[in-house]
Amino acid sequence: MHNLFILGSPRKNGNSETMAQTVADGLFAKGNNTVEYIRLNHLSIKPCQGCGGCSESGHCIIDDHMTDLYEKTDAADRIFFVSPIYFYGLSAQIKTYIDRCQAKWSRKYLLGEKYREKDKRSGHLLSCAATSGDRLFDGSILVIKCLCDALNISYGEPLLIRNLEPRTALQNKPEKLSLCHDFGKKIATDQHQI
Ligand SMILES: Cc1cc2nc3c(=O)[nH]c(=O)nc-3n(C[C@H](O)[C@H](O)[C@H](O)COP(=O)(O)O)c2cc1C
Repeated sequence: MHNLFILGSPRKNGNSETMAQTVADGLFAKGNNTVEYIRLNHLSIKPCQGCGGCSESGHCIIDDHMTDLYEKTDAADRIFFVSPIYFYGLSAQIKTYIDRCQAKWSRKYLLGEKYREKDKRSGHLLSCAATSGDRLFDGSILVIKCLCDALNISYGEPLLIRNLEPRTALQNKPEKLSLCHDFGKKIATDQHQI
């Protein structure tokens, strides 16, 4: 299975990236998994211009790093959307990628494109925040559910961790690291995803 990790934090090796790497270790522990990381902060991806071009052609008119990412998004068996919580939502880096997936939404809902079988592919939110509020992840979960629908993939189990600050907080919490590792192993063995 090919696993694509879309990294939305500007902080290299911060908490959400540590989550991603530890989940990937869990996937590897179950074998037969390849992993690819995309660090969005290093790419040039322009925000959606709402021009409507994709409603007619199914393709975005903007030629930037997103062009490659559409292909990688299509090719992955599992996609992990990795982001810190910023103001009760996703980071701008990952939201920009998501908005550009409007081209995928257009293909599915306006142009009737047929996709690979939905239940064989899944998307998972990996997110963390500094505080402990009950509803910290609600907005991001809704966005990722909507994105998975547009990409025609199943919305899979998320991994959400509160109380992570500063940048190295997760590296010093062995019990939370175990949680991430176990999550990776569990996702790797979920029946419907094999
Ligand atoms: C612009 C900004 C907004 C943030 N908003 C929230 C928030 O609404 N709630 C919260 O609990 N933490 C918030 N945080 C804290 C981050 O979610 C937290 O530090 C997280 O561990 C960062 O993950 P990273 O190391 O992967 O970047 C915010 C941080 C920044 C920089």
